[in-house]
Amino acid sequence: MTYALKNFPATEKSSVRLISKILVDGGDAEETRYVKDLLGFVDGQTTNPSLIAKNPEVKRLVSSGHSLTEEEEIAEYRKIVRAISPLVGDAGISIEVFADLDTTAQQMLKQGREMFAWIPNAYIKYPCTSEGLKAAQRSVAEGIRVNVTLCFSQQQAAAVYAATKGAKTPVYVSPFVGRLDDTGQNGVDLVGNIKRMLAKGDGHVHVLAASIRSIQHLLYAFHVKAELVTAPARILEQWTKEGMPLPGDDFVYKAVGSEILYQELDLEQPWERFKIQHALTRKGIQKFVEDYRATLRSAG
Ligand code: E4P
Repeated sequence: MTYALKNFPATEKSSVRLISKILVDGGDAEETRYVKDLLGFVDGQTTNPSLIAKNPEVKRLVSSGHSLTEEEEIAEYRKIVRAISPLVGDAGISIEVFADLDTTAQQMLKQGREMFAWIPNAYIKYPCTSEGLKAAQRSVAEGIRVNVTLCFSQQQAAAVYAATKGAKTPVYVSPFVGRLDDTGQNGVDLVGNIKRMLAKGDGHVHVLAASIRSIQHLLYAFHVKAELVTAPARILEQWTKEGMPLPGDDFVYKAVGSEILYQELDLEQPWERFKIQHALTRKGIQKFVEDYRATLRSAG
């Protein structure tokens, strides 16, 4: 895809002061470059198997009938993050391991170690499951930066905190706002609740608001001072077109579903004691597997 810059005076591009770091949620270096031109900066990038399957080059290969082996798919992923790597700031690039519901911690860790070596600014994304948390725990002990993804509950975020204590660099936890909204809940509440809970912690876990589908989601993430927020290019483009608004002191978020209540949790518990299983995490893993396999299958 070709992106065109228009109607954005240069003076407006980088004048916004933000607490939250801004990441592009995508899988295409051209798109990241476009957003960077619009905003004047991009702090980081998040990718996942579905976004990689949508990369223009991957789509072109698949539609031209080229049979992608698993090794070739991984090589494409590596090529994509290497192209994005120099474009982003210190929030890095989150690279997701390929995991289905049976993938073990050891298998995830093996991928994580390899992926971490692809670029100097990698964060390895593990799903928020027991196996994913074991892999994350081991990774931080080895100095591998991690982003625990597909987080849909405060209990899961507490488990991320407890499993990664002692990490030398910030650990990201990614609550998925839009996918909670899809189920009739007020997804942003989870971001606010996790921020409130982690305020009692040691600061090693940073909240990365994900599955952002609207400007209101974005503004809420700023409002609760999420350390990071990742949004698709179209949302960041829209935000720029609206003059990069920030939430004022009078910011009010209009709830879109039922409230997600705050829970008092003891962050000092062993991580295995928290309720880690979540139906939406399982569903999310299955969707990533489906999108990843579809590229391989249709290429065959
Ligand atoms: C980012 O890390 C996530 O993979 C992404 O935000 C998911 O967004 P979606 O729910 O719109 O697919």
